[in-house]
Amino acid sequence: MFKNKKILIGSDHAGFDLKKELIKFLEENKYEVHDCGTYKSGESVDYPDYANKLCSLIKLNKAPKGILICGTGIGMSIAANRHKIIRAALCLDSEMAKLSREHNDANVLVLGARITSSEDAINIIKIFLNTNFAKGRHQKRIDKI
Ligand code: RB5
Repeated sequence: MFKNKKILIGSDHAGFDLKKELIKFLEENKYEVHDCGTYKSGESVDYPDYANKLCSLIKLNKAPKGILICGTGIGMSIAANRHKIIRAALCLDSEMAKLSREHNDANVLVLGARITSSEDAINIIKIFLNTNFAKGRHQKRIDKI
């Protein structure tokens, strides 16, 4: 199903429960998942800490892609996109996930646990991980970022 089997995932407290469900789904699909935290349920933490950790590991080539989850997905998106090589896409549906890969070559998928159900999140992940970058005119635009 998936092409490269390594993936990073991280969340704050608001994304913790959804993250657990997504890890289960990914592992059932033979993905090698590295959880960047938070590791505790119910303890309020700061989302940039987990965005920064995951993005740093992508920079170190530990995995080509990552998934970040907070309450809305907005904070994680803002934090992740401060990293130069990161193109983080907050996706609310499968179409956004598809286009984030085809047009933007997004390497981080961001989800909002208070916005997106686990069923929708799984569908979004499937598309995100199985859609290739379309290159061509889109590469030129990415080069301008
Ligand atoms: C935490 O309450 C919440 O602010 C955080 O998860 C996220 O939604 C921020 O953008």
